[in-house]
Amino acid sequence: MSRTVLPLASSTPKSADPLALIDVDHVRLYVGNAKQSAFFWAHAFGFSVEQYSDLTTGSRDEASYLLRQGNIRLVLTTGLTKDHPACKDVALYGDGVKDIAFAVQDATATWEAAIRNGAQSAHAPIERADANGVVTTAAIRTFGRCVHTFVSRRGNYALPNVKQGGAFMPQFAPVRNFAPNAYNRAHPCGLECVDHCVGNVELGKMNHWVQWYSDVLGFKLFKHFDDKDISTEYSALMSKVMDSGAGLIKIPINEPATGKRKSQVQEYLDFHDQTPGVQHLAFRCNDALETVAELRARGVDFLRLPDTYYEKVWDRVEGEMHAHVAEDHDRIKELGLLVDADDEGYLLQLFTMPLQDRPTLFIEIICRRGSQSFGKGNFRALFESLELEQERRGNL
Ligand code: FE2
Repeated sequence: MSRTVLPLASSTPKSADPLALIDVDHVRLYVGNAKQSAFFWAHAFGFSVEQYSDLTTGSRDEASYLLRQGNIRLVLTTGLTKDHPACKDVALYGDGVKDIAFAVQDATATWEAAIRNGAQSAHAPIERADANGVVTTAAIRTFGRCVHTFVSRRGNYALPNVKQGGAFMPQFAPVRNFAPNAYNRAHPCGLECVDHCVGNVELGKMNHWVQWYSDVLGFKLFKHFDDKDISTEYSALMSKVMDSGAGLIKIPINEPATGKRKSQVQEYLDFHDQTPGVQHLAFRCNDALETVAELRARGVDFLRLPDTYYEKVWDRVEGEMHAHVAEDHDRIKELGLLVDADDEGYLLQLFTMPLQDRPTLFIEIICRRGSQSFGKGNFRALFESLELEQERRGNL
């Protein structure tokens, strides 16, 4: 049973600040074929395909799969008719992130506060209820194709239950006997949470969206990188990292910067209907060597670094930055991991190739050992590598 309620007087306890975000409830991707995408995410990244919603569960216009690993929940959604918004989105932009959904105390109150702060509604509050409980969602538009849905849950649908594999929302049923799930339990990839979620926006629009996250959702500026930090001979970008109040999730916003040739952000936009969207999702793990070894064994294709990277990295990270990297240095090189440090500690990171034929969405694997930054020291090596790939695609 589902009904639209506008406005909704909620019986959930009001938190002092309706914009206090509790967690990332889920990240929804719009894809051309959710059934097949679920196989990809299960086989390549070790996600467990746990629940589904389709014609057989009473969903008449779309099919969705809930995938889970650690505290990461991905929802893959496909429209079943040409007029479904997911089908239109996929036609324009290809498969990619539609929604970074936030768990909140009271979705209606959060949505109302965001609208008061200047947000544009994507949809008014909807309450879905069944014998298990109630899930209320309401959504606002953010950059380009993306939205933020606010989700509040009552009864058995409470987030702590969902984190343990409990029912996601009405019209979802458990997936049974999906063989890759057993394989993934025996061969875990160790992805634990969404560390950050990066938006690519048009030239000149970074500061607009930085202000928007501050005004509408109360985010704070966490880090700022300009084109001197993030430029190579050709490709440049500027980036500001926005951080939600409780440090729940970081949203870096990138815009292209003028370089000799095409910025990687512009390449993204060129294959994304000149429309902003999510460039990469960063998943955090606690053992980068094990995680990347497992992902490589599964065939995940990572960006290749210049051979010279490891000639300089230890002088930079351990010499200049005084970090002591505990992981085996030879193994780090074998697995092709990047290392960076700041005054709080160090981090290991690695980036996949685009997940689809369009050079758009990719995944970052990040392991933090104290460092709260984003690998600024790796930008040059990384971007030189990215440029080689751009050149191979004929887009530089
Ligand atoms: Fe990142």
